[in-house]
Amino acid sequence: MCGIVGCILNKEVAPTIIESIKKLEYRGYDSVGIATLTDKINVKKGSGKIKEVDDQIHLTEIDGNIGIAHVRWATHGNPTKENAHPHNSCDNKISVVHNGIIENYKELREELEKEGHTFKSETDTEVIPHLIEKYTKQGNDLLHATQKTINKLIGSYALAAISIDEPDKIIGARKESPLIVGVSEDGNFLASDVPAILNETRQVIYLDDNEIIQLEKDNVTVMNNQLEPIKKEVVTIDWNPEMAEKGGYPHFMLKEINEEPQVIKDTLSESPKIKEIVSKFKNFNRICFVACGTSYHASLIGEYLIETQLHIPTEVILASEFEYFQNTLDDHTLVIFITQSGETADTLKALKTAKKVSETLAIVNVVGSSITREADHVIYTRAGPEIGVAATKTYLSQLICIYLLVAHLSDDTWLIDKLSKLHDYSLNSLKHEENIKNIAKKYKSASDFFYIGRGFNYPTALEGALKLKEITYIHAEGYPSGELKHGPLALIDEGIPVVGILPPGPSYPKTYNNLQEIKARGANMIILGSEEDTQINQIENKILFNPGIDEIIAPLIYIIDLQLLSYYTSIEKKIDPDKPKNLAKSVTVV
Ligand code: F6R
Repeated sequence: MCGIVGCILNKEVAPTIIESIKKLEYRGYDSVGIATLTDKINVKKGSGKIKEVDDQIHLTEIDGNIGIAHVRWATHGNPTKENAHPHNSCDNKISVVHNGIIENYKELREELEKEGHTFKSETDTEVIPHLIEKYTKQGNDLLHATQKTINKLIGSYALAAISIDEPDKIIGARKESPLIVGVSEDGNFLASDVPAILNETRQVIYLDDNEIIQLEKDNVTVMNNQLEPIKKEVVTIDWNPEMAEKGGYPHFMLKEINEEPQVIKDTLSESPKIKEIVSKFKNFNRICFVACGTSYHASLIGEYLIETQLHIPTEVILASEFEYFQNTLDDHTLVIFITQSGETADTLKALKTAKKVSETLAIVNVVGSSITREADHVIYTRAGPEIGVAATKTYLSQLICIYLLVAHLSDDTWLIDKLSKLHDYSLNSLKHEENIKNIAKKYKSASDFFYIGRGFNYPTALEGALKLKEITYIHAEGYPSGELKHGPLALIDEGIPVVGILPPGPSYPKTYNNLQEIKARGANMIILGSEEDTQINQIENKILFNPGIDEIIAPLIYIIDLQLLSYYTSIEKKIDPDKPKNLAKSVTVV
């Protein structure tokens, strides 16, 4: 779970590389480093966020027209300067950056140490430059030495290597960690993800597992593991660089929440493609969703929709728990994988198992990501790049895809009609910003928050609570509203904020009564409901939505304001919502 960049230009490369690596900071921000080639390998690295390290050691003040860089999310070894990438060979002739995990690094390290290699870090990665060094000393060039090295590795990697003996090239390789190539007239690029290169080019090659790449200033050669050249398609990306920038907002998260009306339009435009995919499904009598975190909450809403609207038995499995449930899959089960990044290791692992027996569908935001290449069918969520670590617009786009899927599976137009109003509803939700800021100010010091909802809006309660704990570090729990009296009500005390999700619909009377039970115990209610709801008029903290938003459609609209509530609480607490502690955007470790 790190980000890597490699770049060859006919000018000083460091300013471009550092700008690129900043775009990957969402993948990790424990430490950062850069290596460039002149007549020697020059390295600058340090622990901390890119800006902090740059302020101290001026990362761009390093010569060379060819270089590699890395942002780290620590797995093996603490986030120290010594463990920061790039890592060099003993003779400092070879430098490597790596994203992934080398599972057999201990054995390899022992072997190399016996052969006389000295290690400077605790990382799994450091075996790579030492192995390349070993093979170059046996007479191999950088390409062949890298090939021999990766044949020794067990685990996952996206890596880039440079050598002072071949100062005109970067060798890259990928297996189970993302790696793309950017092609331009001024030079060529390697990166973990597209936003890193969008300032330089929109021409992209997606590398597949077990491919090796030789990058030169005017040439890009993609090869298979036997080093036979492979012809790859160059794809033009329709994201522009501004889409990957903050666009004038103080944080990516706020920008991404404000992009939701557009995301609704873009994702709804996928409706014909979803219809076509649905027509290709084989017969199935059971649906199984597999996902993690926020994507798991989107899946839960899918379960409610499918069970109530299609009457197909449906279950939702956390990807990390999948192995305990995999034995009942069969060729009449449709397994749906939901993931914004398309790289979540647990989800990818579950998909590889499920596809052996069942038909698989992936709902993914990142085009060309690993999961899109494994599933039988892929639906893209069209949210555009999401940089804030907390998922916002990608969650909404996942929900829209699930609703469209259900609409096409049932061949019903009433749901499509409802979805056509979402854009206007979402614009209205964004107008609640000032009200939400005030609520955030009032409750910023709360130590606990409860979120309750029923039916389709129980997962909304879970997602509201997850968003709050993620970016404010306040303890928050989501419950089905009927469950509180079976235990958690004991935790409700005078002044505890409880967010009640109360849209109009058949579940309204029961949820309303549950909220009265909580209010009677002295909780501070924050109610999300309809403008037409006269019963909630007397409540001080309320966020009111268009009356047309009933309980089926509410998960798509109410969540926007719950995201804003978390965002402004985070701001009140002076936390950077884009980079919550201990978390990363793309979780590529199991
Ligand atoms: C929370 C969040 C995470 C992800 C989870 C799965 O805001 O973003 O809970 O939802 O890590 O990630 P994906 O969707 O990339 O598989």
